[in-house]
Amino acid sequence: MFNKLCIIGVGLIGGSIAKTARLHNLATNIVGFGREEDLQNLQTAKQTGVIDEFYLDIAEAVTEADLVLLATPVASIANILKLLHPHWSSSTIYTDVGSTKGSVLAAAEAVFGYVPDNFVPAHPIAGGEQSGVLAAVDELFANKRLIITPTASTNTETLRKIQDFWQALGSAVSIMDAAHHDQILAATSHLPHILAFALVDMLGHKDEQSEIFKYAAGGFKDFTRIASSSPTMWTDICAANKPAILPLIAELQSELGKIYQMLEDDSRQQLFSTFSYANQARQRFLNQIETTMSKSITFHIQPGGKLHGETRVPGDKSMSHRSIMLGSLADGVTHVTGFLEAEDALATLQAFRDMGVEIEGPVNGCVTIHGVGKHGLKKPEGELYLGNSGTSMRLLSGLLAGQPFNCVLTGDKSLSGRPMKRVTDPLATMGAEIKTTENGTAPLHITGKAGQLQAIDYTMPIASAQVKSCLLLAGMYAQGETRVTEPAPTRDHTERMLAGFSYPVKREGSTAIISSEGSLTAMDIDVPSDISSAAFFLVGASIAPGSDVTLKHVGINPTRTGVIDILRLMGANIEVLNPREVGGEPVADLHVVYSPLKGIDIPEDLVPLAIDEFPVLFVAAACAEGQTRLSGAEELRVKESDRIQVMADGLLILGVDAQPTPDGMIINGGKPIGGGEVESHGDHRIAMSFSIAGLRANAPITVRDCANVNTSFPEFKDLVKNLGLALVCTEE
Ligand code: S3P
Repeated sequence: MFNKLCIIGVGLIGGSIAKTARLHNLATNIVGFGREEDLQNLQTAKQTGVIDEFYLDIAEAVTEADLVLLATPVASIANILKLLHPHWSSSTIYTDVGSTKGSVLAAAEAVFGYVPDNFVPAHPIAGGEQSGVLAAVDELFANKRLIITPTASTNTETLRKIQDFWQALGSAVSIMDAAHHDQILAATSHLPHILAFALVDMLGHKDEQSEIFKYAAGGFKDFTRIASSSPTMWTDICAANKPAILPLIAELQSELGKIYQMLEDDSRQQLFSTFSYANQARQRFLNQIETTMSKSITFHIQPGGKLHGETRVPGDKSMSHRSIMLGSLADGVTHVTGFLEAEDALATLQAFRDMGVEIEGPVNGCVTIHGVGKHGLKKPEGELYLGNSGTSMRLLSGLLAGQPFNCVLTGDKSLSGRPMKRVTDPLATMGAEIKTTENGTAPLHITGKAGQLQAIDYTMPIASAQVKSCLLLAGMYAQGETRVTEPAPTRDHTERMLAGFSYPVKREGSTAIISSEGSLTAMDIDVPSDISSAAFFLVGASIAPGSDVTLKHVGINPTRTGVIDILRLMGANIEVLNPREVGGEPVADLHVVYSPLKGIDIPEDLVPLAIDEFPVLFVAAACAEGQTRLSGAEELRVKESDRIQVMADGLLILGVDAQPTPDGMIINGGKPIGGGEVESHGDHRIAMSFSIAGLRANAPITVRDCANVNTSFPEFKDLVKNLGLALVCTEE
């Protein structure tokens, strides 16, 4: 990538860059520059092979370098730029690693009068308490975030090269402006360091008279680890980012003031709420790191085996979302059991917390929602981040269109590529104002139109429960009677749950009808197991000889049971045991034993009733004797991935004759399934479907990119292993 890389300041960061760049062959020649007093460190760097050569003279150091990297403390950047100024070359790229970016840009302006277009400020969010080249390590930047803060004049080609360089070092690169960077880092890095230093300073002085530290244990050590960082460096950083840090210190003081007051007033409940909010927020943050920092998760499946035993799969995702939404809008306290503790449903839960709803849990599937009433939601402080969850985004767009505040809905890469016009177009005819990207995708910028929405009579062009639910939720805030007609039956959990909360919804044939007249009264909700998660076991047991599985307490709402109907048409042996009704939804235990399957033409009227189950039904088709044909399912192309293409690609790798069509798939099944490495494209249901295929494979299957199984079924790997599939999960 570069011929000569010159590192100015060969300490922990500079040295680690040199080591990792060498490991990945990113530069032919790596040299260091330092001052007289750094001589010993530079000699060590050379002796240990971190750099090839070092110089105390800047001109020599940068001669013919095509990349010059400033890795000195932020306070020294202005002086370094002054030294570099006479030798500045337009054919060289310059970058830095400073923790504050506004100060770096200011230093460049002070020295040059402008920010040169070949200077690209960057900040790797990685480090450690140690300093000096001996602390340098390979791969310090692997799976760590790196932020580049270009200016309007930064050369795009230069920017791209720096981006490529950091990606090659293993970092996940984001690009933002310097001011935004400084604000974010003030909150997530600078303030925590100040707090750690402050606490140790305070207790250290106390300890002169007492013996607190003697009894300090893990909590103290964890919390104060960062107070072992370099005092010089942190003094510099705090001074450089003072404008962003000061307001945060003031906010923290007021937060501590509130906690002081709660304790003084013996308000246990308030204290508990504050702590449980923080506890949940931290969990969400950890989940986010796990997914966004792309710890790549791979499933390895040994071929063969059978499924045997009894299990209860986690709660229904659709109902979990709706329980939070309607519970939040209800008057009174709603208790939910069986709530799905997976990322998608937690994204909805967090969104309502962000809108001021007090929600306790989830603890073992139990959630308590302190409803704020139909008009009680508050403007969220930031964007509502909905992760991978299409249901959250589409339903919320309807619900939020008629609120008295504006907000922005965002999601991960997959969600940001999914079509939103299907909801924003009909909402616009109701008078909603929602801006999408040019492609009709998220982020969605919603301007709240409280009291201004008008009811519509809408016939949906596609059979979509999300669109129907979105419009019904908007209809709760619109003048007149909103009527939504579906071209084919779709899941009706919204209507059922609204009725459960005593909110009037009528049905006339295929039309659901709602108005703003009504309120929701809190209730208890028992969420049954998700038939979409049960589907993996229904198919697994049907295709693997000797299997016998019972799935307890599964929701069998007739708008969801297409998978049972399709599998039975193929010859599966599925019994519905002990059918009962729980909180307005039909529930049963499902008993499935192995039975040879045959290919069928899947009736189109079953498509919306099994829409999420097709990836695993394709696996059933691959094991079925003869041809299976699916048509009328173009919707599969716009799910978490293009489920037609992604499944066809993977099945082909496994030696299955699968031909994708624009709206479905033709599979000639019954031949042995082979082994191989398939991509799930971050789609949870694809990952689980190919794992199930392992039961009938004759060689190991590796499924890549499985982290998103956590969006709907975090327990999948454990449950499927307990029932008999040889699945091993690895993380990189
Ligand atoms: C869902 C509806 C379906 C389904 C999705 C959940 C819901 O989407 O695929 O997983 O909870 O309403 P469409 O309504 O877009 O088909």
